[in-house]
Amino acid sequence: MSVLALKRRRVLSGMRPTGRLHLGHYHGVLRNWLRLQSEYECFFFVADWHALTTHYEESGTIDANSREMVIDWLAAGIDPAKARVFIQSRVPEHAELHLLLSMITPVGWLERVPSYKEMRNNLPDKDLDTYGFLGYALLQSADILIYRAGFVPVGEDQVAHIEITREIARRFNTLFGRERDFEDKVKAAIEAMGAEDAKSYRDLRRRYRERGDAQALESARSLLEDREDLSVDDRERLFGYLDGEGRVILPEPDHLLTEASKMPGLDGLKMSKSYGNTIELREEPDRVQKKMRTMPTDPARVRRNDPGDPERCPVWQFHLVYSDDSTREWAKSGCLSAAIGCVECKQRVIDAVIEEQTPIRSRAAEYEAQPELVQGIIEEGCSLAREAACETMEEVRRAMGLVGS
Ligand code: TRP
Ligand code: SF4
Repeated sequence: MSVLALKRRRVLSGMRPTGRLHLGHYHGVLRNWLRLQSEYECFFFVADWHALTTHYEESGTIDANSREMVIDWLAAGIDPAKARVFIQSRVPEHAELHLLLSMITPVGWLERVPSYKEMRNNLPDKDLDTYGFLGYALLQSADILIYRAGFVPVGEDQVAHIEITREIARRFNTLFGRERDFEDKVKAAIEAMGAEDAKSYRDLRRRYRERGDAQALESARSLLEDREDLSVDDRERLFGYLDGEGRVILPEPDHLLTEASKMPGLDGLKMSKSYGNTIELREEPDRVQKKMRTMPTDPARVRRNDPGDPERCPVWQFHLVYSDDSTREWAKSGCLSAAIGCVECKQRVIDAVIEEQTPIRSRAAEYEAQPELVQGIIEEGCSLAREAACETMEEVRRAMGLVGS
C-alpha cells in the first residue's frame, strides 16, 4: 500500500498547447475538468515546455497557442474563481524540481515508459533523440509532485506517466525523508496531539500495519489532515510513519481515469487532429454545417429508399453523443426502414452540435475582445501556482541538503 497525497483534495492536470481544441477535447477532457473544479482544489496548466520536447523546430507559435488554449478552457466553462489556470514556463520551479529529480532517476525508467518508444515510432520525421524528450515523463512528474497533487485526471495513455511519478516520489522520500532521530521526533509529534488523538493515531496505525486495514489508514490520514496545528515537518513524519520509516515529502498521486471520449470524428474514427476529422470547439456554424453535411454515411444507402444500418454510419456515433433516447429511436428505426433520409438524420446532430457550441463561441469572443482580462487570469493563476510550488521547493531543497534546516 502506498502513501497517498497529503493534499488529498488537490487535482492537477495539464495539456500541451498543440493548437485549437476540438470537440474531442471538450467531451474527453474539459467536461471532466468542469466537474472537478467544483469538487476539488484544481490546478490546470498549459504544458508549453512539453510541447517543446517534440515541436522544438516550430516553437514560434507556442505562446499564441497557449493563450488560445486558455481561452478555449475559459469558454468551455473553466472558472478562474474556482480553478487556478496557469502556464508551466511561468512557474520556473517546475524546471528546478525536474533537474533535482533527474539526479535520482535511473535512465532505464525513462527509456521504459511506453509512450517514449511509441512517440519515437509514430513521429519518424522528428529527431526525438534528445535529452529533453527522454525526460518527458520526468518533467510531467515534476509538474505533479511540485503541487503535491492527490489526483491527476488523465486518459489511459498517460497512466504510465502517473505510475513513474509515484516511483520517483517513493524514491525521493526513501532517499531524503530519512532522519536519524525519526522515531523520537515521531513520538514527540504524536504526544503533542493530545491524549485522545494520539491514541486514535496509534490504534489506527496498528490496525493498518497488523491487519492491512485500508479504512484505518484512510482515517489516520484524515485525522492528520484535520489537525491544522501540526507543523509541516511533523505532518510529513506522521504520514510517513503510517507505512514507512521516513517523512513523506512528495506524496504519491493517484490517477483519476478519464473515461475514454466517445466523441467520434467526422469519419467515425476517434476525433483527432492528426486524422484531420475534427470539429473545432469554436468552429463557425456554417463551417460545421458544411463539414457535417459531407460526412460519410452507411455506404449501403445509395438511394433514398435503400435501408441502412446505423452501426456502419459515423452520423449514428454523433447521435450517441448528442441525441436523447427518442431522437435516437427515430434515427435508428428510420434508418433501418428507410423512413428517413440521411440529410434529415444528419440535420438533427448538426443542430445539436451548433447549439452546444453557441454559448462557448460567444464566451470565447468576449475573452478574445479583452486580452488584458485573459492576461490577468493567467497572471493570477501563475502567481497562486507559484506560491504552492515555492512551498514545496523550500522543503525539497532542505530535504536534499541544499540549504540548512
Ligand atoms: N503529457 C500530458 C499530455 O500529453 C500533458 C501533461 C504535462 C500533464 N504535464 C502534466 C498532464 C501533468 C497531467 C499532469 O496530455
Ligand atoms: Fe447514417 Fe442516419 Fe443515414 Fe442511417 S439515416 S445512414 S444513421 S445518416
